[in-house]
Amino acid sequence: MNSDTTTDRGDLRGILGMFRRRWLLVVVATVIGAAAGLIIAKSHKKDYSGTAVLLFRPVLLDVQLTGLPLQQPANDPQRETSTDLGLVTLPQVRSRAAAALGPGYTAEKLKDKVDVSAKGKSQLVDVKATDNTPAAAAAVANAMADSFVAYRRQGLVARIDSAIRQVQRELRRRNTTRLQRVVLRNNYTKLVQLRAVQPGDVQFVSRAIPPTKPSSGSTLLYTILGGLLGFLVGIAAAVGSEALDRRVRRPDEVESALDLPVLATIPRSRTLRDGVGVWEGLSGADVEAFRLLRTNLRYRTGGRDLHSVLLTSAGAGSGKTTVALHLAAAAAAATDGRVLLIEADLRRPRLAQLLGLPAELGLSSALESDVEIDDLVASVPTAEGENGAGTAPGFDVLVAGPPLPNASELLGSERMSALLRQAGLDYELTIVDGPPPALVSDTIPLMKQVDGVLLVARLGHENSPELGALRTQLERLGVAPLGVVANFSRRTANPYVTTGT
Ligand SMILES: Nc1ncnc2c1ncn2[C@@H]1O[C@H](COP(=O)(O)OP(=O)(O)OP(=O)(O)O)[C@@H](O)[C@H]1O
Ligand SMILES: [Mg+2]
Repeated sequence: MNSDTTTDRGDLRGILGMFRRRWLLVVVATVIGAAAGLIIAKSHKKDYSGTAVLLFRPVLLDVQLTGLPLQQPANDPQRETSTDLGLVTLPQVRSRAAAALGPGYTAEKLKDKVDVSAKGKSQLVDVKATDNTPAAAAAVANAMADSFVAYRRQGLVARIDSAIRQVQRELRRRNTTRLQRVVLRNNYTKLVQLRAVQPGDVQFVSRAIPPTKPSSGSTLLYTILGGLLGFLVGIAAAVGSEALDRRVRRPDEVESALDLPVLATIPRSRTLRDGVGVWEGLSGADVEAFRLLRTNLRYRTGGRDLHSVLLTSAGAGSGKTTVALHLAAAAAAATDGRVLLIEADLRRPRLAQLLGLPAELGLSSALESDVEIDDLVASVPTAEGENGAGTAPGFDVLVAGPPLPNASELLGSERMSALLRQAGLDYELTIVDGPPPALVSDTIPLMKQVDGVLLVARLGHENSPELGALRTQLERLGVAPLGVVANFSRRTANPYVTTGT
């Protein structure tokens, strides 16, 4: 049950995360959908409906009057109603209505415009017509109802005429008795009287009046439906793009992509982004993340001393220089020994600018000529952590120096090896900031000359195939990294650390 709750919470967090990342897509799709609905509603020809009401009544009165079954009352009233409904839209009825309505109307057109339905179980029948103006809708409904009333009357009159003719034939027959003739004459008179009153079994009870509002969907309805459809499309697009997105977002995804432990998770921080001087302005959580990295690194060497570590990554901009700098500061604060930071990224140097140091002299100068590193390193003071309390020992830094065309050769040269050996003698820990091996080969010779390699991965930026390729490349080179730093993590509260700067 507990694990179920955890999974549910994980799923929910995943869904919320997806919305946080893709909200713009969903909003844009919803707005486009609503706008499309609005445009359709505005451009759509509006429909209006008018309804005339007819009353169907059996002609029992006529039977009483004449004693003749002019129209058989049905046993099943439901069946009779459905038969009558069908009769209302007979072609003859539509043709007569079309002729009454005038040009523009045909029996065929009226078929689609008219709908007949019974009003519950009563004998009332609605004749509903739909047209594109209120007046036309009412006119069509009334014309159809009129036409049907006339059609029924005509049918009944025809039947009375045929009954009259039959009575006449009976009367003229030779073998009728006197009594029969009396009855027949009586019937004849009644039939003639009935015909004179123009009977009908359908009555027009309510004429259609032009409607005031269109019957087809309102603008608001179309806009809401369009927006809803757009929202659903937006959600589908968000889910689809999320499924195709292979970027790593969580430290555990980095871990499985590289098959390496995450030694520290560095929060995304404005201070780190702005590159303000070492420790200054860093929150307690940021400081603690780098301390933790330093401590974890020490325990990852399996008892071996770690005197030099190279930082590299799958791609550019993952935060190698930033992590190297703050790791140097954390290491300097944690040990009595000296700490050196070497910027071996000769192609995209950043440290000199970040620390306000001269960029004219640096590692490249040492590799080109026999300058001692003591003459090239600069000392960086660090002010201890939170609330600016106390001072901590600083560290030395060897910036990249002027750019060189043959950086790769020089970094793989004997002079570079000698420089690292010298650093190993003079410093407790040497941190080397190197470029990504997938982009330039400069780092490859350096990897073999340090005690350990540390990878930096940028969450939400690098993707798992990229990280997988780095892992394969390192395996082929026979390099087993110590672990990985998950940089740019969304800040999560650490209950052990105060959030002050
Ligand atoms: N945790 C972080 N939070 C916010 N910004 C960060 C963080 N880490 C690094 N940055 C910023 O990201 C950018 C790239 O960082 P950095 O230069 O350290 O990366 P890099 O891997 O050394 O890049 P390059 O491949 O160009 O050498 C810099 O602007 C830096 O300030
Ligand atoms: Mg860098």
